[in-house]
Amino acid sequence: MKAASIFFFGALVCSVAAAPRPLGRRFGNQGKSPAGGFGKGGAPPPPKGGAGASSAIASASIVTSAAPAATSALTGNNAGAGGAATGGDGDLQTSLTLDSSVICANFTDDGQNPPVAGQSASSTSTNNYINFCALTLPQTPLTNGLQITSGSCNPAPIGLIPSVDHMPSAKYLFPKNGGTIPANQAFNAQLNVLNFHTGVFTNAQKTYFAAPQTLDAQGLIIGHSHMVIEALSSIDQITPTDPQKFIFFKGVDAAAVNGVLTVAVTAGVPPGTYRICSINSSSNHQPVIVPIAQHGSLDDCSYFTAK
Ligand SMILES: *[C@@H]1O[C@H](CO)[C@@H](O)[C@H](O)[C@H]1NC(C)=O
Ligand SMILES: *[C@@H]1O[C@H](CO)[C@@H](O)[C@H](O)[C@H]1NC(C)=O
Repeated sequence: MKAASIFFFGALVCSVAAAPRPLGRRFGNQGKSPAGGFGKGGAPPPPKGGAGASSAIASASIVTSAAPAATSALTGNNAGAGGAATGGDGDLQTSLTLDSSVICANFTDDGQNPPVAGQSASSTSTNNYINFCALTLPQTPLTNGLQITSGSCNPAPIGLIPSVDHMPSAKYLFPKNGGTIPANQAFNAQLNVLNFHTGVFTNAQKTYFAAPQTLDAQGLIIGHSHMVIEALSSIDQITPTDPQKFIFFKGVDAAAVNGVLTVAVTAGVPPGTYRICSINSSSNHQPVIVPIAQHGSLDDCSYFTAK
């Protein structure tokens, strides 16, 4: 694998807004993926070698807003906070101490000053919730890189959030919404993608939700998509579907080509009505996270019929 120059930012959710844009290299290799996706059918995703892709997240280049000078040396070593003493070798990304430069003072505000009718007070923290999982839910296991089906508590920060003009979006090219396709025939599901650095995924069995969301040098979320097809009772079904039931699921390992993501549905689908949806995710599989609450859908669904 070629040198992957993915900028990895640690716990800088709060201060990164003011940070200079990542300097330097454009991303090159987007993380060649091993064969396969997440397979087909309702069974849990089979283990797949994610090694290739996980190693794409190898370089730990840090930028902090507090030390503009440090951004000229994206070495992966301490980029740190105006040389704040962090102990050890001074690497903020291995330090077990919360660095003062990343403490978000606004997390102490519960948002209710003044109170707003119907609005709940936010929980607050003076230490970025660093011990959130231990203090809040002692019986709950930590998210550990596995897909813990019984639930867990994740201590990883949300990570890098793009600007409003870098929010991803998607629209199905095929099957078209409202379209009809031949039953039981192979087809390529195709999605038009915008503002999304696709084709990067990490090992879904060992690094699920195990790292913050990251952006590329253009400010786009680095990640990948998935396509899932669910059977419907009719095209205008109004009852909610069961998220544990789907007839096809595939991680889209490859990057978009000319803005189009493609997945081969090799067995097609039996006669019936269906919904195909994208699930856009960061490298470590969390849903893409964008900077504002009011935004258009980041995913697309297409409702179609097979006859
Ligand atoms: C904290 O939030 C206020 C708005 O409530 C904002 O004006 C201020 O810039 C924030 N402080 C920091 C350090 O981001
Ligand atoms: C979501 O993923 C689909 C592919 O499944 C892609 O076409 C679309 O552009 C993505 N959406 C965003 C917001 O990136």
